[in-house]
Amino acid sequence: MNTKRTAQLVLGVLLGAAAYGTCWAQKAEGLASTPQMGWNSWNKFACEIDERLIRETADAMVKQGLKDAGFQYVNIDDCWQGQRDADGNIQPDPKRFPSGMKALADYVHGKGLKLGIYSDAGATTCGGRPGSRGHEYQDARTYASWDIDYVKYDWCNTPSMNAEAAYTTMRDAIAKAGRPMLFSLCEWGMSKPWEWAGQVGHSWRTTPDIYNCFDCEFSPGLSTGLGVLRILDKQAGLRKFAGPGHWNDMDMLEVGNGMSEDEDRAHLSIWAMMASPLILGNDLRSMSESTRRILTNRGVIAVNQDKLGVQALRVLADGPLEVYAKPLDGGQWALMFLNRSNQPADVHHDWKKQVLIDDLNNRSADFKQTVYRWSDLWSKKTGDTSAKLEARLAPHSVLMLLLTGPAKP
Ligand code: GLA
Repeated sequence: MNTKRTAQLVLGVLLGAAAYGTCWAQKAEGLASTPQMGWNSWNKFACEIDERLIRETADAMVKQGLKDAGFQYVNIDDCWQGQRDADGNIQPDPKRFPSGMKALADYVHGKGLKLGIYSDAGATTCGGRPGSRGHEYQDARTYASWDIDYVKYDWCNTPSMNAEAAYTTMRDAIAKAGRPMLFSLCEWGMSKPWEWAGQVGHSWRTTPDIYNCFDCEFSPGLSTGLGVLRILDKQAGLRKFAGPGHWNDMDMLEVGNGMSEDEDRAHLSIWAMMASPLILGNDLRSMSESTRRILTNRGVIAVNQDKLGVQALRVLADGPLEVYAKPLDGGQWALMFLNRSNQPADVHHDWKKQVLIDDLNNRSADFKQTVYRWSDLWSKKTGDTSAKLEARLAPHSVLMLLLTGPAKP
């Protein structure tokens, strides 16, 4: 082949790839312009799932006010799969999902909600069910034919596979299937997906799985589970990679699964501040009134869903007390004081000594110049920054403020 022909071919391939990228971007546009909100079966139910659970969860999402609060995806995690048929088409487990996935999608859509599904880039999933390796285009077509809205794509059983290539293949398969489906990467942060996944998926997991505790770690054998604070600490340096349509995913929530109320409030606040997807992980059918109230806190959710899509930065670390700031649309800020300790901690915050600077986004708030009003998103107390902020934080709790300014010139 002569050099000119080779150059033409290379150019053609590059243009083709660019066009596909644009095409995907257009298709996927708007699907996660703010972090996705929904529910997933794994944290609470693992493989004990069936179509009744999914229908009842959709019912509860509406009845408990979660849909009104912004939660919309009902996501089936691992273990829904049965076998592939003679043509290689994946079938749901006939005992657990006898009506089939299309009927389930119709039911969920009938509630004004969306249905998500799970697969894995390897030949088998983490739960040992058929994965999508070698069936990517076929599976994406199947999901589209079932009217699925969301695909979570896991990373078990992928020895020597390249993550970027494997996830790009599935992205292209979803684009080709012709139905907009949110693409959620679950690769646990191993190949630094934040560096390459902005053009591949709508979100990428940044860590191993969450473990249901505030400040602990669980490492049985090869797998690791991380508590809330451990996951938070692993977000250091990642904020510049997050933004509308592409989010750092801190994993599904454990709110309502046994931590204390203060811990649950702190957990949700942290995820909101960090602009992580908010995917509930508890049993929505039987949650307590206090869990329901935590999960439907509109002010905290609004911080997560703010349209600027900027992840919080840590602006202060003083022993167990940390302060995180998130610039919001319209010149507002969210400020979270976090007590990491299992002892109470006192806040004596002199606003006059604090300037908030988000150098990545060229935003700042100078409390020497400007008085901001604040409202506490949990207790609903209000005040302004002309006076020192004095508060006692219970162990593992947060104070989360919405700052609106200027109150006075
Ligand atoms: C992995 C994922 C989890 C869950 C399980 C299912 O561990 O990280 O979120 O999907 O697999 O087997």
